[in-house]
Amino acid sequence: MKNIVILISGRGSNMEAVVRALDAEQWPARIAAVISNKPEAKGLEFAQARGIPTAVVANKDFASRAEFDAALQETIDCFSPDLVVLAGFMRILTAPFVEHYAGRMLNIHPSLLPLFPGLGTHQQAIDAGVAEHGATVHFVTAELDHGPAVAQARVPVLPGDTEDTLAARVLIEEHKLYPTAVRLFVEDRLVIEDGNVRILDRAAEPTSI
Ligand code: GAR
Repeated sequence: MKNIVILISGRGSNMEAVVRALDAEQWPARIAAVISNKPEAKGLEFAQARGIPTAVVANKDFASRAEFDAALQETIDCFSPDLVVLAGFMRILTAPFVEHYAGRMLNIHPSLLPLFPGLGTHQQAIDAGVAEHGATVHFVTAELDHGPAVAQARVPVLPGDTEDTLAARVLIEEHKLYPTAVRLFVEDRLVIEDGNVRILDRAAEPTSI
């Protein structure tokens, strides 16, 4: 049984999609906690209603990024996570924090990385005139929105799209993509090799001595 800690900053719809899939598909995992850096994050209400432990570590209470990340790490580690899932967690993370969770922290980003890292990805895609846009789940490394990609979902960019219509189309795919990727991790089917992710057909056999 793997322990998953999910970090959110707001609405939490991706967190909700992961929680619902875990329950419906009976993964060998539990959501140990949902933690937010914003006390007002809407997603906390959903987690609480499901009986999931929640915590707030408010970044505004800390003088520096390093102090905030240290406090966040301490809170996360109280829940003994096998996996940390960033689900709309809108913070730039320090290198020591990222290193601490190397190989066990996933993020979802609303673009076809390496295209459009950072904020405002949907408008960036429209402005660039690309025919396709989407979302990427990747392991987190110290460089923002980089790191080995686990899976991507693609949607067309349609004539007349606004940031909102495109975001809505991408979000529908995010809600399928993120549970799929998290489930692969839970099933021990993700291997990072030379900076790339290999997906195993079935869980790796324990290595014998
Ligand atoms: C999602 O679209 C997610 O991909 C994006 O924020 C939204 C959060 O929505 N994340 C990032 O931009 C991270 N760089 P949610 O709170 O409803 O899951």
